[in-house]
Amino acid sequence: MKIIAIWFVLALAAAGSVFGQSASTPLPVLINKNGRHALLVDGKPYFMLGGQAHNSSAWPGMMPQVWAAVETMHLNTLEVPIYWEQIEATQGHFDFSVIDTLLAQARQHKVRLVLLWFATWKNGSNHYTPQWMKADAAKYPNITGRKGQPVDSPSPHIKATLDADINAFTNVMRHLKKADPQHTVIMVQVENEPGAWDTMRDYSPLAQQLFEGAVPAELLKPGVLAALNHTGSNQGSWQQVFGDRADEYFHAWSVASFIGKVAAAGKAVYPLPLYVNAALRDPLTNPMANSYESGGPTDNVIPIWKAAAPAIDILSPDIYLQGSERILKVLELYGRADNALFVPEASITPDMAKYLYEVIARGGIGFSPFGIDSNRPDAKRTEPAERLAPYAQEYIMAAPMMRELAQWAFEGRISAVVEHEDNAKQTINLGAWEATITFGSGWRGNDAQANAKPLGRAMVVKLSENKFILIGSLCHITFKPLGSNAGKVWQYVKVEEGRYSNGTFKPIRILNGDETDWGGPRFGATPTVLQATLSVR
Ligand code: DGJ
Repeated sequence: MKIIAIWFVLALAAAGSVFGQSASTPLPVLINKNGRHALLVDGKPYFMLGGQAHNSSAWPGMMPQVWAAVETMHLNTLEVPIYWEQIEATQGHFDFSVIDTLLAQARQHKVRLVLLWFATWKNGSNHYTPQWMKADAAKYPNITGRKGQPVDSPSPHIKATLDADINAFTNVMRHLKKADPQHTVIMVQVENEPGAWDTMRDYSPLAQQLFEGAVPAELLKPGVLAALNHTGSNQGSWQQVFGDRADEYFHAWSVASFIGKVAAAGKAVYPLPLYVNAALRDPLTNPMANSYESGGPTDNVIPIWKAAAPAIDILSPDIYLQGSERILKVLELYGRADNALFVPEASITPDMAKYLYEVIARGGIGFSPFGIDSNRPDAKRTEPAERLAPYAQEYIMAAPMMRELAQWAFEGRISAVVEHEDNAKQTINLGAWEATITFGSGWRGNDAQANAKPLGRAMVVKLSENKFILIGSLCHITFKPLGSNAGKVWQYVKVEEGRYSNGTFKPIRILNGDETDWGGPRFGATPTVLQATLSVR
């Protein structure tokens, strides 16, 4: 009896420690293998099927309409701001009640959160700093333009501002560490689209003095200069080294250094993945920084941000540009061996939803259109479902197989195409097979009636040499053998339509006849998941 009792106590103690750990799941973490990235949530690759609330919606009285949109969209991750002006309305006194409400409601709705720290910078300005800072412009000054004019943007050179932001942000992270053992919050955005509009940098006497000093040694390392495509001098002042890019590079370095310190301090308290989002520049024409927000992590200054702010894990593009060439270029520029691809904002237009496929296939970790809620303070608080439908139908398709998609993406098994403005067919090399994707909703793939708008999309997952998962809409997918089988007659062994459930493909039917002949399986307006096995005869 005594032995049994001791055993029972030991077993309880052991179980206690195991349950203690499982109550707090593993910390979300970004991993990188051979230049590919994954965001591990609960220990496994996770893809954020996201959506971002409007700027002024993260108030308890406004959240019902956000949750309504979350449900309509079937998203798994909500991006939502938290406001410095609300959290530290009185200097040194912190109110985390809104964060606690967000945590509780997200858990109820079974979604994860990405919190956006609207603090020193919000779209280049400092409108979210608390009133006690706004009232003391001498202590927390803005920057000065080239002609001495005031600019509505905070100075990155002021220790008082930096200390205040570090203090507030570390308090937020400390609170999250305590209040969120189950890691409902999986990432935090530090600031929002930082940089400055209407000036390339700060021209105040303090900034001018720094600008005339030597370029910091970290920026002059050969690897950083090479990444910046810099070929000229590597000695002297900013102007001497960087010429006509000096103003922008100086501001990028200054803003990134400030935010890097805020991020490092927050991470030291609670090491969640952190990112900064960019207001983009035209990715094709290498414009000067007087035509876009200067100092933020635009594509040309990614190496400066990486050197100045190593505590920031990801630099992320907010995609409001148009046209497939531009958008695909942005994805290429931000999906790098040293930078996971994550699109934290995109216009919520029907033609943007197809880029979800490209982000997944490029090994990205998440995609999120901006402004999901109706943003109306009146009674009409539900968002028309039509506005969210292009995203909802993709998320309904992807959510049950999100873990598989994230794992396949990490392994580099997925290829995707999106229809371009010319509706032209596209091919994917799959090793033993070439897939040809034609766009249109017509009967035959090879004479498909062109889509009126270029909305077609397809993803091909290579499960093994002859077995593929095909996902798409408004297109046909057909194949031909390559390599030693080139030119041979081939056939579908089996094409099944179905969906993933608990890690297994569950077929609904076998497609054949009209559904697979005439140019390959036809994908209609609703995204469909097929499993296809091919062979040569
Ligand atoms: C980009 C910003 O990051 C968002 O907070 C929001 O202001 C949108 N622009 C509005 O389109």
